[in-house]
This record gives sequence, structure tokens and C-alpha cells, in this order.
Amino acid sequence: MAIVVCRNLTKFYGDGRAVNAINLEVREGEFLVIVGPSGCGKTTTLRMIAGLETVSAGEILIDGEVVNRVEPRHRDIAMVFQNYALYPHKNVYDNIAYPLQLRRIPSAEIKTRVQETAKLLGIEPLLARKIRQLSGGERQRVALGRAIIRQPRLFLMDEPLSNLDAQLRIQMRREIIRLQRQLQITTVYVTHDQVEAMTMGDRIVVMRGGDVLQVGDPVTIYNAPANQFVARFIGSPPMNLFDGTLTTMDGELSLQTGFGSYALAPDLRARLLANPRLGMGQTKVTCGIRPEDVTTAPSAHEKLGVAQGTVDLVEPLGSDVYVNVVLGRDMLLARVNPENAPKENDQVQVGLTLGKIHFFDEESGNNLLPLR
Ligand SMILES: Nc1ncnc2c1ncn2[C@@H]1O[C@H](COP(=O)(O)OP(=O)(O)O)[C@@H](O)[C@H]1O
Ligand SMILES: [Mg+2]
Repeated sequence: MAIVVCRNLTKFYGDGRAVNAINLEVREGEFLVIVGPSGCGKTTTLRMIAGLETVSAGEILIDGEVVNRVEPRHRDIAMVFQNYALYPHKNVYDNIAYPLQLRRIPSAEIKTRVQETAKLLGIEPLLARKIRQLSGGERQRVALGRAIIRQPRLFLMDEPLSNLDAQLRIQMRREIIRLQRQLQITTVYVTHDQVEAMTMGDRIVVMRGGDVLQVGDPVTIYNAPANQFVARFIGSPPMNLFDGTLTTMDGELSLQTGFGSYALAPDLRARLLANPRLGMGQTKVTCGIRPEDVTTAPSAHEKLGVAQGTVDLVEPLGSDVYVNVVLGRDMLLARVNPENAPKENDQVQVGLTLGKIHFFDEESGNNLLPLR
């Protein structure tokens, strides 16, 4: 069952359209991540669901009820913001207790629930402290505590980890996932960080310029990006792009690139030819391949070789090595094992896993292959 449905949800600020008739379903109990670059409409979408922003067109349904005109406090939603929005002059106890105090719940019950919540988040020793005496991570936990104490039907989080340092961010990421699995509260989580999206989301919504470009589980989005933008935005380091031409001749399909010409395997050929956008003759395309699908081998090992390249920059990461290879006018990044990594200026044979090449329409940028 979908707990939240957005139908043609639109937001104008003056003449500018921040959210462009998006359609979205959040399923019962899921952790849905909205990801996209700054300014793409993530916060606006979340604030409309929360009721903090009016809807210009379209509708929002929660549990089947249109809530466009329902006051935020009657939506049974809790929101966690990037800046935490805590009361600095109050102590931790009162910040967490606040949503219950507002609802005039008896103080004995409040006490029990604050203690339970603090225990869940490991902040019991901090209850008497003032907010300004807390570290960033501790403040984040208090903000989470204030949101979960009410056990709302929906959790909204807007970049809740952006103010934390890298290490703490990874730790809090895990804590939030554990907490969500434990409480099973439907959650919409907004971030500009694709790693957060991939690691945390049951499903991911990729937005750009007020539009939803793709919705899917992380693996599908990674393996079958709907278009060039999603392909480059998800995955680090980003997918390599290069120009190519697909040529159909006598029922055979081949790919010509600036560094070599390749016959495509029958299954790939069949799937590409099923696409009406590919006519007979020649079609210019933008090709994409992820760094892990590019290999480098010393020139002596001809069997891997599909193109001759020169190693430019080599970036060791410990577990992997990023190898930048120049192939004529193209540059490809390969992610290789440290044991087989070439050195700068080496001549190498570059191997591309042909079955893993993505083909994008030159004009629209759309992926020409149907879902794998
Ligand atoms: N209160 C506002 N008034 C005018 N424009 C706004 C307002 N809030 C957001 N915008 C604009 O709407 C677009 C989407 O903003 P936002 O939803 O905050 O993006 P994101 O959260 O993805 O970074 C941006 O172009 C932003 O400048
Ligand atoms: Mg935002």
C-alpha cells in the first residue's frame, strides 16, 4: 500500500517552477530517498508533503486522503531538518519532550517516553545538557529523538547529515537505517549525496530541474540508468562517456568509436535493434561505461586488448586504483586492482566489457536500451 501519493505535484515561486508535475508513490514502511543536485526541488517537494509549503497544482494523498488543505499538525508527520531546528536555550530532555508537551500528554508518560527514546539513540547521559553544549552528532540524535518520540505515520528528513564530518556521517547513516528498520516508519529522505542515496534507499527518486527522471531500487538505477544524467550522477567515480556510431549492415550491428570498431554480441544487438530510435544505416550515440568495466593490461597481454592507450594519471586509493587512460581524443577512467595497476606513461591495452556499454540518444540523452 502506498502511504503517500503525489499526483502532478507542482510548485511555482512567481514565474519559476521549482517542482514540475511530479508523480510519486511512497510505499508503506519503505525508506525512499529523493536525490538530485542543489536546486532541483527536493526540499520544496518534502515541504509540500509536510504541509509547510502550499501546493500550486496537483495533489498529495496520505493514506488515501487528499491533504492539500490539511494543516501540518494534522498530517501526523515528523520532519528532521539539516540545521536540526532545536531550541538552543532548552535542555535535551525538553527538546525531545516538546512534541508531547504540545499535545498535553501527562508528564509521567512524557518522562517514560523521553527516557525510552534517549535510550534508543544512546543519549541518556545528555538529557540535562543544553543544546549548545552538544557536538554536531549529538544534536543530530536529539533532532531524531524529537521526531521519533511521537511515532508519526511518516518521517521526512531533509539532508539531516550534511552538517556532520565525513566519518560521523557514515556512522549516523547506519544509525538512521537501523532506527528506521526497527521502528518501520515510512520515511522520505532527501539528499544531494548519491552515496547516501545508494546505501540508504529501498528505492531512489532522481530529480533534476523540478522533474523526476527515474524511480527505482539502487541496483536498477545503477545498472539501467534512464538517461545520461542519471548515469553520471549515480556512481563514483562517474560513468565514462565517449562518442560512438552504431552501424547496421546486413542485419549485423557494430559500434565505431574514436579508438576502435566492435561487433556487438547477438543479445545486445537484438535489444538495440528492437529500439525504433535506431534506424537502418548509421546512428550517432553517446556511449557510457563504468570505470569497473574498463580494464588495463600491459601491451604484452594481447587477449584483453581492444584498444591501445597511454596511461595519464594514476590515483591509488588503497583498495582500488583509478587509472586515467588516453585513447586518441578520448579519456577513459579504469578502476583496477592495485596488483595489476600500470604506471603513468605506460602503454596499455584497454579492455571494455562490451555487454556493459550503455547507449544514449545523442539529442535527448535517453538510454536506448530497455531495462536489463
Ligand atoms: N521560498 C522560495 N522563493 C523562491 N524560490 C524558491 C524558494 N524556495 C526555493 N526556491 C527555488 O526553487 C528551486 C528548488 O529549490 P529547493 O526545493 O530548495 O531545491 P533543493 O532542495 O533540491 O536544493 C530552486 O531554484 C530555488 O531557488
Ligand atoms: Mg534542499
